Amino acid sequence: MTTPKHTLALIYGSAREDRFCDILARWLIAALTDHPRFTVAIIDPRDYDLPLTPLKPACSATLRLSRQLDKADGFIILCPDYNHSYSATLKAIIDSAYMEWKTKPVGLVSYGGQSGGLRALERLRGVLARLDAIAMRESLSLAYPWRGLDDHGQWTSPQGADEALDLMLKRLAWWCSLLTQARRENVDMEVV
Ligand SMILES: Cc1cc2nc3c(=O)[nH]c(=O)nc-3n(C[C@H](O)[C@H](O)[C@H](O)COP(=O)(O)O)c2cc1C
Repeated sequence: MTTPKHTLALIYGSAREDRFCDILARWLIAALTDHPRFTVAIIDPRDYDLPLTPLKPACSATLRLSRQLDKADGFIILCPDYNHSYSATLKAIIDSAYMEWKTKPVGLVSYGGQSGGLRALERLRGVLARLDAIAMRESLSLAYPWRGLDDHGQWTSPQGADEALDLMLKRLAWWCSLLTQARRENVDMEVV
């Protein structure tokens, strides 16, 4: 019997022109293509004209995005370091929804200069905890990832990154199975 696949939403944390995010996203998508446990769905802020502050009633972009987040069983967030925090773009995505995050696992991939975006990740973890999303311990932080580009624009992942990603995906699959079943069985979060 084949195990049903989980929908993993890959969230781009940057909307910048020339963003490095695209290169890392391609690497993640390659790892997730034909993956035995996941199908991947892309959430790119460029596809949504999100307001910086949530509107009431919600605008059509916010509603469209929250529906996409709702369909996901788990997430991978690509998180660039912007002044030792995550981007405003990413916060706008996060604030577009609420229940859609609850009890879903999140894999984190940060990038930036020397710290590889670790400070941004630590700030992001607090936000995800508020939403009852489960941030994986096994995150990846890539320092100066642009140094992996050759003269032809081909990117090579840093040493150990593929193995670290593989481990994170295994852990994500484990959490996705557990939490998807718990949500299906409607385990009452208020009493456990
Ligand atoms: C507004 C802004 C602030 C940044 N601040 C930092 C920083 O504090 N530390 C760091 O290591 N990199 C910093 N960077 C570098 C980014 O992490 C790097 O440019 C990365 O590629 C940004 O992701 P993106 O290209 O996908 O938008 C900053 C970049 C921007 C645009």
